[in-house]
Formats: sequence, structure tokens, C-alpha cells
Amino acid sequence: MKLLVVGGGGREHAIIRKLKENPEAEQIIALPGNGGIARDAVCVNIAAKDIDGIVDFAVKNRIDYAVVAPDDPLVLGCVNALEAAGIPCFGPRAAAAAIEGSKVFAKELMKKYGIPTAKYEVFSSPEAAYAYLEKAPIPTVVKADGLALGKGVTVAMTRDEALAAVREIMQDKKFGASGDRIVIEEYLEGPEVSVLSFTDGNTLVPMVSSMDHKRALDGDRGKNTGGMGTVAPNPYFTPEIEKRCMEEIFLPTIRAMKAEGREFRGCLYFGLMLTKDGPKVIEYNCRFGDPETQVVLPLLESDLLTVMRAVTEGKLAQCPVRFRRAHACCVILASEGYPEHYARGFEITMPEGTEKNVYFAGAAMKDGKLVTSGGRVLGVTAAADSLPEAVRRAYELAEGIRFENRYFRRDIGRKAMEALA
Ligand code: AMP
Ligand code: GLY
Repeated sequence: MKLLVVGGGGREHAIIRKLKENPEAEQIIALPGNGGIARDAVCVNIAAKDIDGIVDFAVKNRIDYAVVAPDDPLVLGCVNALEAAGIPCFGPRAAAAAIEGSKVFAKELMKKYGIPTAKYEVFSSPEAAYAYLEKAPIPTVVKADGLALGKGVTVAMTRDEALAAVREIMQDKKFGASGDRIVIEEYLEGPEVSVLSFTDGNTLVPMVSSMDHKRALDGDRGKNTGGMGTVAPNPYFTPEIEKRCMEEIFLPTIRAMKAEGREFRGCLYFGLMLTKDGPKVIEYNCRFGDPETQVVLPLLESDLLTVMRAVTEGKLAQCPVRFRRAHACCVILASEGYPEHYARGFEITMPEGTEKNVYFAGAAMKDGKLVTSGGRVLGVTAAADSLPEAVRRAYELAEGIRFENRYFRRDIGRKAMEALA
């Protein structure tokens, strides 16, 4: 089979590595991929948002099956367009991807179907939002309605921060039309858990849970980033909590989507907060998380291509999905200064034997050398029988990977290990 993977980050690299385990995957093409992914797949420089370009390429190259990984093309209808051209895909259609593409839609869905989440109000004018914030309980959380490169959420610890967030989103239009409406919601507290799931719209199979580390600096300080590291499983996500989430959140969500005529097929990501009043949804994503995928897929025992095709064909109930009883840790190696300003173009080197544990994100080939080209450069993953061993091994590998400006958090997995102790 000729496979296409849309996207070009560490998540896509992890997906490609796993797809490659199936001997049926004769060729894998990444659009656009990156210089590091090019060691595992053919990379063609077509942007993930260029839907016409992707469909045109897929048809001309007789692609048998496509995986659309990032949020933007999913929300823009890449799956609809590929299917219309006769190419089966993994990923939700646009109507279902709205569960991530519009926070207002997601909140209204949860309210209508009684799915536990933070209380909220929606605003389409800044004046109304300012007026509401005069009396709103603080801390509060301000969210742009649409996609915002993962930067559309402000957890405001003071009234001034909340007002500033509304101004940036609605008046300065920092995220363009994504900020035409905002959600202001109740501040929740508790451990956070990421749960990715496979679903064909009727059956849902949760993958092993994980824990992201979103802040740039040790001790969860500094700016919010796309994610600086992950561990799986997440020790807070006990079998009892999983059962409760299945009944109160996971299955009600896919049933709600079906009832709305937006059947979800693909990977549905639940960002959960385990509050003292029970688990609540912080966010839905219509795709695999990054860097959650880099710890979840290495623990998948079943064949990924087989599971994905079962999802596409609506046959997930007949497809066993198994995970290894092990632990994984991914440490992101970033460019110093990320998520703000950083220099790039530095050569990446690593000891022999390391690369099989590395998923490339911001890496490019220049004059025959692999160089840094982004904020998050790569993720290094290790799996082991215990979490401390997985963490130790991931850091040992991280130390050996060199580039100028290299920066990484030193405490990935610490909170999880404390929770286990
Ligand atoms: P998101 O961009 O939706 O992933 O949100 C970024 C982060 O903001 C989440 O991982 C949470 O840590 C935090 N967050 C979002 N919503 C809330 C909330 N209602 N209460 C507290 N923290 C939140
Ligand atoms: N790591 C969070 C996300 O993929 O949205």
C-alpha cells in the first residue's frame, strides 16, 4: 500500500514509525514532513493546510490510504476532500472536527448532553465580555473560539490579565477570526490527564493515558508551549476514574456527536481535569496530541494501520487494540528561547543507536546535514517496565543529542513519579 501522512512534526514522525511496522506499508509519503522524518518517509513540500494541493498529489500518486494528523487540515475539510476523490482516510470530517475547531460548539455540545465541563459564558462583543468580567469570579479562563496554534487560552489569575486577554483576542485580533467569539469559563483545579482514543463513531477505545508538561520551564513555570514532554500512563488515571470517564464523558461525547449528525471517526483527544467534583473536560482535540503521541504509540502493541483502517471502515468493535503494560517518557529538546524568539540552523548530532528513539519536529536538511529549524526540535522517547527507568533512560539519551542552543526541561515525569510513590 501507498500511504500518505499529512503533517510534519514529532507526532507525525511517531505515526509514520508505527505505520512502517506493517509490511503492507510499502511506501509512506509525508506532506510536508521535515528533514528528520525524511529518514523514514518520502517528504514532499506541500503544506498541511493546502487542501487542493494535498488532494491533487494524492490522486496523481495513487495513494491507497491517508492519515490526516494536524488540526488545521481536519477543520478545513481535508478528509472530506480526500474522500470525495476516492481516497479512504483516518481522521474526522470537518463537521466532526468542529469539536476542536470551535470551543463554543464544544461547550454547547457538552451543556446540551450533560457532559461535565467548566461553567461558561460566550461573548461576541468585547464590551459584553468586559462588563461580565467586572463581577466574574477570579481566577478565570479566557478562550478564543477558533484554532489559535494552541495559544488561544489564558488562565487569568487577576482581573487585569483577563481583561488583557479579551483585548488581545477580540480587539487586537491576535488570532484573526478565531477571536470573533470567546468563551470565559470557570477556573478548575486538579491533576490534568490526556486521553487519546480511537473511535469509529459508535465504538470508542481509549489509548493508554498520558501527562503533558505544557510550561516552558521546570516546576511548571514560564510560558505555555505546545508541550515540553510527556509520560504514559498517567498515574492519576486509575481504572475507577477511567470507568467513570467512559460512562460520563467518552461514550456520551461520541453519542452526542452522532446525534448531531457529526459522527466522529478518527482519534478523539480528551483533555481532562480530575477535580474534586469528578473528571471534567478541559478541551477536546480532533486529533492525536503532540507530544502525547510520542509516548502513546510506542506502547501500542497492536498494528496501527490495522486499527486505523478498522476506524475508517466503522469496524472498530471487531478490532482488538492492545497496549503493552510498560511506561514511556518523552523529553522535548527545544531551541533556547522557545516559545518566543530563538535562533535556528544549528547542526544536530547524536550517538549511533539513538535515532530510533527520536521523533523529529523542527529539523531540516541543509548541505547534507540535519539542522534545527524550529522551536521544538525533536522528542526523545524511552520505554521501560517502570516509570523511573523510562525517565532515566530518556534523559540519558537526551544528554547525548547535541545542538547549539539546546534546551530541555529537567523534570519531565517528576510529578507522575511523586504520584506513584
Ligand atoms: P488548551 O490550550 O485548551 O490546551 O489549554 C491550555 C491549558 O490551560 C490547559 O492544559 C489547562 O492547564 C489550562 N486550562 C484550560 N481550561 C482551564 C480551566 N477551565 N481551568 C483551569 N485551567 C484551564
Ligand atoms: N499536547 C497538547 C496538544 O496536542 O494539543
